[in-house]
Amino acid sequence: MIYLDSAATTFQKPPAVAAAMERALATMSSPGRGGYSEAMEAAETAFACRSELAELFGVGNPERVIFTMNATHALNLAIKSLVPPGGRAVISGYEHNAVTRPLAALRAQTAVAAAPLFQPEAVTEAYARLVTPDTDAVICNHVSNVFGFIQPVEAVAALCRERGVPLIVDASQSAGMLPLDLERLGAAFIAMPGHKGLYGPQGIGVLLCGENVPVRPLLEGGTGSLSIQQEMPDFLPDRLEAGTHNMPGIAGLLAGVRYVRGRGLQSICEGERRLALVMAEGLREIPGLRVFAAPGLGHQAGVLSLVPEDRDVEEVGQALAERGIAVRSGIHCAPLAHRTAGTLETGTVRLSFSDFNTPEEVFRCLKAIRRLFS
Ligand code: ALA
Repeated sequence: MIYLDSAATTFQKPPAVAAAMERALATMSSPGRGGYSEAMEAAETAFACRSELAELFGVGNPERVIFTMNATHALNLAIKSLVPPGGRAVISGYEHNAVTRPLAALRAQTAVAAAPLFQPEAVTEAYARLVTPDTDAVICNHVSNVFGFIQPVEAVAALCRERGVPLIVDASQSAGMLPLDLERLGAAFIAMPGHKGLYGPQGIGVLLCGENVPVRPLLEGGTGSLSIQQEMPDFLPDRLEAGTHNMPGIAGLLAGVRYVRGRGLQSICEGERRLALVMAEGLREIPGLRVFAAPGLGHQAGVLSLVPEDRDVEEVGQALAERGIAVRSGIHCAPLAHRTAGTLETGTVRLSFSDFNTPEEVFRCLKAIRRLFS
């Protein structure tokens, strides 16, 4: 199989990830719930994972690294900590349903800083027109999960600092590929999955919290701390981590993060972008395809979309699946991104890369697509 659906989840993982998960099942109980060796090993693994993530993402204190179920859970925590029912948010034109649905549930007044694809200056200008001091939160997707557009989070963060408005960064597609520094950005929260560019398993996500940012739990329950008290502890990570931890997930994520740090973000990013560039150039030579790729892949990560002129995207996705090529077709849970880019009617076929893809796979995929359209 040629796996080109890493924007959904990276499927090929470093072997250390499965090994760490197996070890966690064999040797760990729950962190913070006992002084015996199995509980201590769990606590040490959880702390090591928080520490590696804190170093990678510039978080001053590992206790502000929160484990969640996934990025959606992390985004819900961030949004519901900052935006009250009926509150005000400003979001980009490329947000995922993990952002727009919680805002809809809160009946928030949401302004969309919509800008054309691959034009970061236009994104910053759009935010600048909409962000006011009474905005409860600005939310910015670092990389569009549909088009790979790298949005200008640094410039948006500078704007938020200047106007005194908290920023939430959705790093679902960028974590493990592009540098991000919570303290330098001055962001309130950064949310990310464990199972994409960090190469952990599904079922684990991460929320990075800024210092002294108000946090509202979505779940109340046992934390192993202050057990007689009936309110959730007011300190992190306990305030946001009720219930037993996903230790196999945390151990797998730790192995994934160590792999990423060992490889280096720059090598991973350059490799994925090189493959995407070759793919984009090859696709452009195939008649009947509209390819969404920036010239030279400027401001684009290893994710690209295409729309066939006279064929349904699901049909193309299925035809590729039958030839052993895994892609995702449709709306990718991001109708707003499609509305902004003008592809809501058709959806797109999305090809997305990881550190495990090879040029040979790109050539084979191009050959298969060429045959489908000849
Ligand atoms: N948001 C993920 C995707 O784009 C699941 O496929």
